[in-house]
Amino acid sequence: MDYLTITQSPNLCGSIAISGAKNAALPLLALTLLSKDDAQISNLPDVADVKTLSKLLEHLGARLQNLDSHTLRINCADIIHTKALYDIVRKMRASILVLGALLARFRKCQVSLPGGCAIGARPVDLHLKAMEKMGAQIHIEGGYIIANAPKGLQGADILFDKISVTGSENVIMAAALAKGKTRIINAAKEPEVVQLCEVLAQNGIEIEGIGSNEISIYGSDGELPRFSPFSVIPDRIEAGTYLCAGAITNSRITLDNANSTHLQAILEKLEEIGFGFEITESSITILPAKKRNAFELITTEYPGFPTDMQAQFMALATQCEGVSVIEERLFENRFMHVSELQRLGADIKLSGNIAKISGAKPLMGANVMATDLRASSALVLAALIAKDTTQIHRIYHLDRGYENLESKLKSLGVTISRDKE
Ligand code: EPZ
Repeated sequence: MDYLTITQSPNLCGSIAISGAKNAALPLLALTLLSKDDAQISNLPDVADVKTLSKLLEHLGARLQNLDSHTLRINCADIIHTKALYDIVRKMRASILVLGALLARFRKCQVSLPGGCAIGARPVDLHLKAMEKMGAQIHIEGGYIIANAPKGLQGADILFDKISVTGSENVIMAAALAKGKTRIINAAKEPEVVQLCEVLAQNGIEIEGIGSNEISIYGSDGELPRFSPFSVIPDRIEAGTYLCAGAITNSRITLDNANSTHLQAILEKLEEIGFGFEITESSITILPAKKRNAFELITTEYPGFPTDMQAQFMALATQCEGVSVIEERLFENRFMHVSELQRLGADIKLSGNIAKISGAKPLMGANVMATDLRASSALVLAALIAKDTTQIHRIYHLDRGYENLESKLKSLGVTISRDKE
């Protein structure tokens, strides 16, 4: 396994380009199952999760052609079976995103239950309840979701008890080919959900309420959409992570290809801490703060503060004056980075889903271990300012969602190398 060695790099400068959003790319790849037409997707991030889902589509019979390192042409005309194997799904639980599309187009599918992960149990009960509401018969057998809809899916009113990003995305894809209207109440509003709706709407599926918490999809009753080429939106979590790299080192850096409208909650929180910004149509520059104040944050669904940025802000809190308070409301175990940050000398006290961080204390380099994707990025941020060097192990977690991490950090002036255990 690889590990990263990072030497204290307290002064960053320069600019980097933000890649396509992993969490937009995944539903968009699944979307191609709805058509027999060639789908061309550009600005795909070159990350492990995209490779994993591409492999799953290939395994189902899709034909994939890399036009360049960020552009894929996919054709799902000749899908040969509809079983998403445990061996692939266990590597990436977002493979559940093929459920809605397979069921809508082929009226049956078997998808391995994704299982939990480091940050929580990650149930999919809301996905399954929604598919049943649309007329599917579903049971679990041998760790697989066995779903059948012999008469095809029917539009229905789907009320989500909890807001679910991939749950909403699965229903949107299923509803696209269903007979009649599907209304999703308490839908997720993340930019990645919006792009999925927009691509469907641009290709003949009538959708109302895009970007709101009530979306209506008028299904095509089995008629497959044709796909015109589309490009993945920028990754707001990658952008937020690099903004935190500028913030934790109190440096001026610029992010190109960043969409600031997707980052409002993050920018407002950084402004509250003491940072300024120069923002253009496609770039964000963070400006050093005279003083970095402790802060409070609660993670909520979009447009609130994203849970995927909680770990990165906890690393930043170690350098803010005073006691910061972070409350994690979405996942029951998303504090795995705390014990690793404490190994670097961070003063963090946990009480249930609330963390109190006493900041503005120096961190000391040490060996630490990545536990999940965003926790790993928090360790990278802390290593930028920890004295001496820090080794971060199990960085396959990072490779799932951050493209070219070392080269991007090196171009900002970070002393970093990747070595083999
Ligand atoms: C998506 O996961 C993202 N992944 C996650 O990003 C992100 O943290 C999460 O949304 C929240 O924003 C992708 O988009 C691929 P949820 P998802 O369903 O859809 C509960 C990253 O780091 N729930 O919105 O799986 C669930 O337990 C990843 O890039 C149910 O109870 O999350 C959680 O408490 C990590 N039953 C809450 O809802 C269900 O059937 C929100 O989960 C589904 C969800």
